[in-house]
Amino acid sequence: MGRLDGKVIIITGGARGQGEAECKLFTAEGARVVITDVLDDEASAVAKAAGATFIHHDVSDEAGWRRVVELTVGEYGAVTGLVNNAGIYRPEGLLACDMDTYRRVTEVNQTSAYLGMRAVAGPMAASGGGSIVNVSSVAGFIGQPVNFAYTAAKWAIRGMTRSAAIELAPSGIRVNSIHPGPIDTPMVRNLRPAGSEPPGPPPRVPLGRRGTAEEVALLVLYLLSDESSYCTGSEIVIDGGMIAG
Ligand SMILES: NC(=O)c1ccc[n+]([C@@H]2O[C@H](COP(=O)([O-])OP(=O)(O)OC[C@H]3O[C@@H](n4cnc5c(N)ncnc54)[C@H](O)[C@@H]3O)[C@@H](O)[C@H]2O)c1
Repeated sequence: MGRLDGKVIIITGGARGQGEAECKLFTAEGARVVITDVLDDEASAVAKAAGATFIHHDVSDEAGWRRVVELTVGEYGAVTGLVNNAGIYRPEGLLACDMDTYRRVTEVNQTSAYLGMRAVAGPMAASGGGSIVNVSSVAGFIGQPVNFAYTAAKWAIRGMTRSAAIELAPSGIRVNSIHPGPIDTPMVRNLRPAGSEPPGPPPRVPLGRRGTAEEVALLVLYLLSDESSYCTGSEIVIDGGMIAG
């Protein structure tokens, strides 16, 4: 018996990194999974290998959200889980961050969670309830001079999560946010110059290493499963002790 038997879960940004690890883990635990992404070839391969479904969707596209939810319910008869995982990182502080960058980072990292929760809430309530996980970051707890728009969006996820948790609780829908520290995925690997040596241990992380996408997937699995039935409106940190330090 799988920990996600009977669940139907949408994961945004499923082509690689944490979304890919979640797709693999959740299907192995019995869920039927739909991944969305803008990287068609990578996402198609991930879905095929895991026995999941891929739908091309840019998370900032409102009409596309309706289509994703309709197709999911049409194929699997319900939707009981949503992971608002897709994200982009731009390493620009306040003075370097122009309006186009600010707008795009906000659309993909913040507005997407609003659109996703709104699109899924009705069908999820009709499915008997469910669980939504919004992926923030340790950047949602601290100020940083290097990623202004990203930090703003990841803080916003906390307010949206708490507000939605209260509003959707009567519909049987739980909403939590997770806050990863440095995780070894393409998002951070792609920031390094091509051909450069792998970096040493990350600074200010007591456990002395980057986390893996699989470790984050296990936390999200818990939040999507009935094992977390009394958790809602929570902010769960997975950061090797970074915030504690
Ligand atoms: N890696 C880290 O250190 C770290 C730390 C804290 C939080 N996070 C967050 O975790 C989440 C997953 O990141 P990751 O590390 O797996 O990064 P990643 O770059 O490896 O994966 C992100 C995925 O999102 C997809 N995506 C980007 N823009 C999209 C769009 N407009 N529509 C649909 N899909 C889109 C990408 O194509 C990619 O497949 C993100 O929200 C990120 O901000 C990552």
